[in-house]
Amino acid sequence: MIALGSDHAGYELKIEIAKYLKEKGIEYIDFGTYGTERVDYPIFALKVANEVASGKCEKGILFCGTGVGISIAANKVKGIRAVVCSEPYSAALSRAHNNTNILALGSRVVGLELAKMIVDQWLNTPYEGGRHQKRIDQISKIERGEQID
Ligand code: RB5
Repeated sequence: MIALGSDHAGYELKIEIAKYLKEKGIEYIDFGTYGTERVDYPIFALKVANEVASGKCEKGILFCGTGVGISIAANKVKGIRAVVCSEPYSAALSRAHNNTNILALGSRVVGLELAKMIVDQWLNTPYEGGRHQKRIDQISKIERGEQID
């Protein structure tokens, strides 16, 4: 299950990506916002991040104007590794090496077809584990306020 969320700026791209996921038979829940009225992106970042961090949803996709604010907010939740991407290569590598669990897209940065390619790469690339796990563990330690040297 994929958790979706956006602010007003990301709303329309979110709706298009939701349609795309539906066409592909991928299940999702939309945690808002549900229109183009101005809202604050941290509220929707938190809703989606909580779903992912708790394991209720496997992954999340967030949308705002740039993807920046909403990814910063999501990354404040323990256990979240959110990546903002505007091309598919980083989307794939963020899964393979960084085991990202939230993708953030900027509706004012990427067009719909590019967004679909980024989503495909991100959803279809598995985490490689191995040598990368040590670094993920180090990130988790930083999150807990522990030293890593
Ligand atoms: C809203 O205008 C805009 O600031 C927001 O969508 C996002 O781009 C913030 O990072």
